[in-house]
Amino acid sequence: MYIIAPSILSANFTQLGAEITDVLAAGADWIHFDVMDNHYVPNLTIGPLVCEAIRPLTRAMIDVHLMVKPVDRIVPDFARAGANIITFHPEGSEHVDRTLSLIRESGCQAGLVFNPATPLDHMDYVMDKLDVVLLMSVNPGFGGQKFIPATLAKLKAARARIDAYQRESGRQIRLEVDGGVKVDNIAQIARAGADTFVAGSAVYAAGKDTDAHRYDSIIAALRAELANV
Ligand code: DX5
Ligand code: ZN
Repeated sequence: MYIIAPSILSANFTQLGAEITDVLAAGADWIHFDVMDNHYVPNLTIGPLVCEAIRPLTRAMIDVHLMVKPVDRIVPDFARAGANIITFHPEGSEHVDRTLSLIRESGCQAGLVFNPATPLDHMDYVMDKLDVVLLMSVNPGFGGQKFIPATLAKLKAARARIDAYQRESGRQIRLEVDGGVKVDNIAQIARAGADTFVAGSAVYAAGKDTDAHRYDSIIAALRAELANV
């Protein structure tokens, strides 16, 4: 039931293909794909071309996290490039409900991302259009930042909303957390209610050489912590 989604933001881009196949061979579930536009966030990363390039490497879910404004123009491009999940920040879209529908109509699962200071209310009237709720546990824009502890209480609140919705609808929504997730805090984060864990620097900093098994022990360590929850 727990999903581990390494963020390729911290991967070695000179060998991106191997960085992806090796984390998946080590037991990671999804590939988290961070898209930054130097407008909504002060950094610039990768787009649909790179998503399309990595798509043939795996059947694992590609979890596209859009830190862009506006959102809608780029959604069909990512769907065509093979994205499975597309999440976006409500601040990036003028019409959140419309953007969620657009993502679904493009054939992808849809999710909303909540910055540390963004209230959960944005999910209130769109629960039926959500497949994923993603809580940022750092401010978006960079890998390698420290987990913000207030996220734990926010996860509990989000978990309660999602559980109530699941009871009445029978439909599952994943609760994902992104930023500063490490071996030493993942169990506590799971206990607060998260079921899907993005980890960038924790995973990719662990593999320094080019041994195909370089990520086995970090993924195993994250799983072992989750097994104790
Ligand atoms: C931050 C990104 C995260 C980031 C996580 O804006 O959305 O996905 O890569 O990196 P770590 O795990 O290093 O905090
Ligand atoms: Zn992310």
